[in-house]
Amino acid sequence: MIGIVGAGQVGSTLAFELFRRNLDDIALVDVVSGLAEGKALDIAQCGSLLGINREVVGSEDLTVLKEADIVVITAGYPRQPGMSRLDLAISNAQILKNILSGLASLKISPILVIVTNPLDLMVRLALKILSFSRERVMGMGGLLDSARFRYYLAKKLGLSLTDIQGMVVGEHGDRMIPLFSTVGITFTNSELKKEIVENTKNGGATIVKLLGKGSAYFAPAVSTALMVESILKNKGELFSVAYLAKGEFGLEDVVLSLPAFLNRDGLKPAELSLSWEELETLRKAAAEIKNFQDDFLRNF
Ligand code: LAC
Repeated sequence: MIGIVGAGQVGSTLAFELFRRNLDDIALVDVVSGLAEGKALDIAQCGSLLGINREVVGSEDLTVLKEADIVVITAGYPRQPGMSRLDLAISNAQILKNILSGLASLKISPILVIVTNPLDLMVRLALKILSFSRERVMGMGGLLDSARFRYYLAKKLGLSLTDIQGMVVGEHGDRMIPLFSTVGITFTNSELKKEIVENTKNGGATIVKLLGKGSAYFAPAVSTALMVESILKNKGELFSVAYLAKGEFGLEDVVLSLPAFLNRDGLKPAELSLSWEELETLRKAAAEIKNFQDDFLRNF
């Protein structure tokens, strides 16, 4: 069973995307009375239309997750215009803590995929609260940022979105690093490069501003669904995933998005060869992210 905590825009869109992929039964949980149950029923009623015979249950109570092999956490406040993801840290950390203690009391150890922002910090916090191995606790950020990178690359270069490659690592925030070395095209125009980087970094904020209320959910939900599918089907796909670095790229004890293969056991770190400049930028960003995470955890 796949568990999803948080039946807001991302959680419910994800539930529908996973249902369509026909991977497993789904349990959706939300503290708001009737919300998860209503969304679950709506999705379940698509079954005969889509030819999918899966259970979808909704509840206010985490006990529906007791059979879950994987739990995605999307619950938390979304960004509003003018807010950075880090502005959500204290309120969402409290929400995450409550959810994790609920999961712990069920005595289950599912693979955890965290979507709640600021997600790098949330993954680090989850690892501190639970005694899960780092392979089983990950965050969805880098894949979404990579999708946005590829979108702007394709638009600027006039390429098809079906052929474009490109990975973003680092923070799901201002310190994200689009890796041009993964695109497979030589860039000579540094202005164009700069523009693509800026567009990618502002990818989420642009949507927050346009919507006026809440943040993006289609691309976040699809990114998460791809991660869940790779895990449940043991596909071993290579994605940029937020996890606790233990020596990869020379980084230690910091959570940020880095390449990893996703399979039934969780994540398996993968080391790509980056350009010297990318590696320097990554190490500098990681040092800043680590300082922030260490400080936050000390005081939380
Ligand atoms: C975004 C939010 C989900 O990047 O972090 O759109």
